[in-house]
Amino acid sequence: MVSLSLYHGSKTSLISHLLILLIIVTIVIEMCLYKKIFKNQRSNKIRDSFNNGGHKVPNMDQTQGPNVDGEGFVSGVYYSNWSPYKPRFHFPHDINLTQVSHVYYAFFRINPRTGGIESTDNWSDLEMNLYKPLAIKSSELIDGNSSNDIQKILPLGCIGELFYLKHSCSGKKFKVIMSIGGWSDSENFKVIIKNENLLQAFVDSSVETMFKLGFDGIDLDWEFPENNKSEPQGYLKLVRMLRSKLNSLESQIFGEGVEDHFQLSIAAPAFKDKLYYLPIPEIDQYIDYWNMMTYDYYGSWSETTGYHSNLFSETELSGNFAIHYMIDKFGINSRKLVLGMAAYGRSFHIKGSGFQPFTQNTILINQSFKGVGKLTKEVNKADGKEGIWPYKNLPKKGTIERYDPKYVSAYCFDEKNSIFISYDNTKSVKTKAEYVLHNKLGGGFWWESCGETYANESRSLIHAFNEGLRSNVSTKPSMFENERVVNFYLNKYGNNGFLTPYLKHMDSFKQ
Ligand SMILES: *[C@@H]1O[C@H](CO)[C@@H](O)[C@H](O)[C@H]1NC(C)=O
Ligand SMILES: *[C@@H]1O[C@H](CO)[C@@H](O)[C@H](O)[C@H]1NC(C)=O
Ligand SMILES: *[C@@H]1O[C@H](CO)[C@@H](O)[C@H](O)[C@H]1NC(C)=O
Ligand SMILES: *[C@@H]1O[C@H](CO)[C@@H](O)[C@H](O)[C@H]1NC(C)=O
Ligand SMILES: *[C@@H]1O[C@H](CO)[C@@H](O)[C@H](O)[C@H]1NC(C)=O
Ligand SMILES: *[C@@H]1O[C@H](CO)[C@@H](O)[C@H](O)[C@H]1NC(C)=O
Ligand SMILES: *[C@@H]1O[C@H](CO)[C@@H](O)[C@H](O)[C@H]1NC(C)=O
Repeated sequence: MVSLSLYHGSKTSLISHLLILLIIVTIVIEMCLYKKIFKNQRSNKIRDSFNNGGHKVPNMDQTQGPNVDGEGFVSGVYYSNWSPYKPRFHFPHDINLTQVSHVYYAFFRINPRTGGIESTDNWSDLEMNLYKPLAIKSSELIDGNSSNDIQKILPLGCIGELFYLKHSCSGKKFKVIMSIGGWSDSENFKVIIKNENLLQAFVDSSVETMFKLGFDGIDLDWEFPENNKSEPQGYLKLVRMLRSKLNSLESQIFGEGVEDHFQLSIAAPAFKDKLYYLPIPEIDQYIDYWNMMTYDYYGSWSETTGYHSNLFSETELSGNFAIHYMIDKFGINSRKLVLGMAAYGRSFHIKGSGFQPFTQNTILINQSFKGVGKLTKEVNKADGKEGIWPYKNLPKKGTIERYDPKYVSAYCFDEKNSIFISYDNTKSVKTKAEYVLHNKLGGGFWWESCGETYANESRSLIHAFNEGLRSNVSTKPSMFENERVVNFYLNKYGNNGFLTPYLKHMDSFKQ
């Protein structure tokens, strides 16, 4: 039909039809190339096995950190810099940023030779241009006729995009925090704490990089310091030096009357075996938040099946145990404790039979298992690993989602293949929000943004959590909303600053 009408039309209309066709083909090719650039994604976070120890820690005096946020709860999410790659295609602008108080940008790593920190992926962090997908996905964020200007000054990479979004997202303010370390970088922490020069270089480079790239603070993720003479004390020293360096940056910017603080937080182990020997009260003096990693309680390393992000348990492997350990044993101010939640499930291939029919009373925890289940196409497509299921793909196809109110965990069970998957759903996170309110915690956070459902708000974990918090989510703005911070930046870096073109553009600071 199309070609017929083309032949019957005039010559000019043929040319214009061909031109339109050419434009469409160009756009399609460009989109395909764009996808191709996103290579395969890299390694992911896993966890080591737990041994049961059990040492008593004396009660300590309650301590206060420099910056307990009284302006609403933390609703934070980690964003990983391997998210843009296939099969994830998950970008900062995919997060519903109106719902979060903090984005933790994971990860920067330590260079063990110099002590300095560096990008783990320059292209993802600082080089790729996200203008097009940003404009397509969230055109409402780009003010109409200035979109061409935005294209010129949009800072590059995921870090640049997050900076842009936190200063242009209408309505809701949030902070972006640089996270250093992660599961695969624990060895380098061990190296730098042994050497005064490397340690100093680490501290200087961390604060310099944080500021230059427009972050509002630093999050340390050493998984985990060992129980020996040097590591717990080395961690304390590192944190103390880092806070002092941040303080001196603040005085440089503000002079006498420091108006605002760069945040310092720790992603902390949430089980006794890796906690009891750490100088928690001493470290607490220097940090704002403890991001308690209250998930991954059960997995491939475990002896039996179990819920992986349960709030309660008869054993010590639960969120509640970890939170109370911090409060009761170490005297930490509950407002500084942030409850970790998982935007993914962990699965087990349960041994034997006798689990059918699957009802509310079928006990699937404490069972022996033969592996964590094979990687299916379905999981792989949504970027799961063996045994790891992104929440957005749960419950598993053909299964029923259930909720265990005693442990506070959601789960589903594939009867045919004996696959048991435990995870957080909207019910469990609502209960967790009540727990946060009741125990006066700092809030909650998720590992990681990629697993969340953004398409359907009634399935959204972050949305359910915030509802549970009566929408009392912190609206503390970025440090870079402060004119003095921006002016200091522009004076320090001049035209060489990563953010200079954008900062110069930001309306409120136009000269
Ligand atoms: C919001 O939460 C903060 C704690 O982060 C609390 O101090 C404040 O009273 C709460 N506000 C309301 C309106 O509930
Ligand atoms: C983001 O969350 C807000 C608050 O729940 C909601 O009103 C809005 O529709 C969400 N935006 C998107 C794009 O889902
Ligand atoms: C990233 O860029 C910095 C500065 O340009 C460079 O020193 C570093 O080697 C790069 N890292 C990688 C992994 O390419
Ligand atoms: C378009 O640009 C003009 C002139 O710079 C400005 O006054 C107006 O507010 C802009 N409109 C939008 C929707 O951004
Ligand atoms: C502490 O333990 C780590 C890991 O086992 C080891 O690398 C380090 O050398 C130990 N340090 C001391 C002082 O024993
Ligand atoms: C699971 O095992 C623990 C002991 O390890 C026990 O206290 C608990 O009652 C068991 N839970 C169920 C549901 O069987
Ligand atoms: C959104 O989620 C709700 C609750 O799970 C479900 O009932 C509804 O069908 C979903 N809507 C869409 C469009 O998928």
